[in-house]
Amino acid sequence: MTIWTELLTHAEAVKTRRIAELFENGNRAAEFTCESGPFVFDYSKTNIDAAALDLLVRLAEDADLVAKREAMFTGAKINETEGRAVLHTALRNLSHPVCVDGEDVMPKVRKTHARMVGFARDVREGRFTGQGGAITDVVNIGIGGSDLGPAMAVLALGPYHNGPRCHFVSNVDGAHIHDTLRGLNPETTLVIVASKTFTTIETMTNAETARRWMAQTVKDPAAQFAALSTASDKTAAFGIHPARVFGFEDWVGGRYSMWGPIGLSLMLAIGPEQFDAMLRGAAAMDAHFRTAPLAQNLPVLLALVGIWHNQFCGYATRAVLPYDQRLSRLPAYLQQLEMESNGKRVSMDGADLPYHSGPVVWGEPGTNGQHAFYQLIHQGTRVIPCEFMLAAEGHEPDLAHQHLLLAANCLAQSEALMRGRSLAEATEIMRKKGLTGAELERQARHRVFPGSRPSTTLLYPKLTPEVFGGIVALYEHRVFVEGVILGINSFDQWGVELGKELALALAPVLEGTSDGAGKDGSTLALAARVRALRG
Ligand code: F6P
Repeated sequence: MTIWTELLTHAEAVKTRRIAELFENGNRAAEFTCESGPFVFDYSKTNIDAAALDLLVRLAEDADLVAKREAMFTGAKINETEGRAVLHTALRNLSHPVCVDGEDVMPKVRKTHARMVGFARDVREGRFTGQGGAITDVVNIGIGGSDLGPAMAVLALGPYHNGPRCHFVSNVDGAHIHDTLRGLNPETTLVIVASKTFTTIETMTNAETARRWMAQTVKDPAAQFAALSTASDKTAAFGIHPARVFGFEDWVGGRYSMWGPIGLSLMLAIGPEQFDAMLRGAAAMDAHFRTAPLAQNLPVLLALVGIWHNQFCGYATRAVLPYDQRLSRLPAYLQQLEMESNGKRVSMDGADLPYHSGPVVWGEPGTNGQHAFYQLIHQGTRVIPCEFMLAAEGHEPDLAHQHLLLAANCLAQSEALMRGRSLAEATEIMRKKGLTGAELERQARHRVFPGSRPSTTLLYPKLTPEVFGGIVALYEHRVFVEGVILGINSFDQWGVELGKELALALAPVLEGTSDGAGKDGSTLALAARVRALRG
């Protein structure tokens, strides 16, 4: 029997076992909790037992995780469909040599980092100004990995924000850039065009709009533009001076890029020292991932829990629930990180996957979600594994009582999901409220919680830059481990191409300059209606 089959058999055998039962013997909470640096990861409220954990670790070993992990860290071209190395870890571990094609890439990485630091200091300290004075506002124009990381990070590290205000424009919907630029002073605004390829239609369209907006009042708009890209020929063609172009290499994937130039807006917001603290936190997680035994390795365990739930229990989605308002963009960030990375239908060699690929990832911060979709998580017919996150303390000492309530809610939710409420308990509650007979029975049934619903909790002392860096690196490596176990390439994203191509071909149909020959009846009819309804 293969390990995969053994796991399927085991999952089937324990399917109806209550998670709470696992706490009856031994010290499960301690045995199924892993600590590293500032992090405590509790996965005891899942149906994983010692046998399942052993099989899952063997599954990772069998997938050659240790060798593949080393191949990633040392610059092997593991992104096979694009012939690229995967080295975002090199952006946060600046002192160690890393070779790609026999060449140490680190001198260039350090040079770009030093240029970013110099530019950030010049802007923050008023040596680089707009044509109307010191920079007050930064507008980062980018999408996907060139937006989600820095946008999430600027929000997450709000307590450290002492630089210019930061705004993020991503959507090609003109409403986004219109509403962002309205109220900004072009003479004191710095526009950052963030695009790895410098070809993405949304970003280039918004960049041109921003340039026109600036040209209305500013003599030399290009002087207030910076670019973050791998394509220096294209940034030059756009007219951005090389002194304000921060390049990176193709071995940094878009969704893994916030640690380098794509993080410039964050560095402007919080300053180079705090930015570097974030890098240190991520590098510490890298070191842990690279060296800790698999069964005590946070990213590996997070991945094994994910694989157990998705592949062996059949739970198609997972909810990420940070009880941390400043992590409110983390679920959106993880949607790209996890779903663009592991939403694949073929294995590395092109064969159809014989099992499902990565799960649907979604979520919102607690406690907001409790008043929206938790109903379904507690009483719906589908099981949704939940990943709770919580800081032991907030950044607002005067509001410590609110943080306590936040923490109580977080712990209560995982407790409620596991414990549930039986029909007998619900009946007793309703009887005490005075109900009897058929009405008592009917009302009680609505108040039953099946329970035994799995969750994990990631606990950390406080959302500092180091901790934040560690959290993001933790999830990056989790995605890597899941990808290795599934045998897929987590670092390409061919699934985004078809829609892009078709959109380009549809623009002339909407303009009325093409009849859209070859297109289906529904698409043509919708395009005709858009044309007819347009004012
Ligand atoms: O369309 C998907 C994608 O290629 C993402 O992978 C990437 O993060 C995003 O578009 C933006 O790409 P770029 O940074 O090249 O503009």
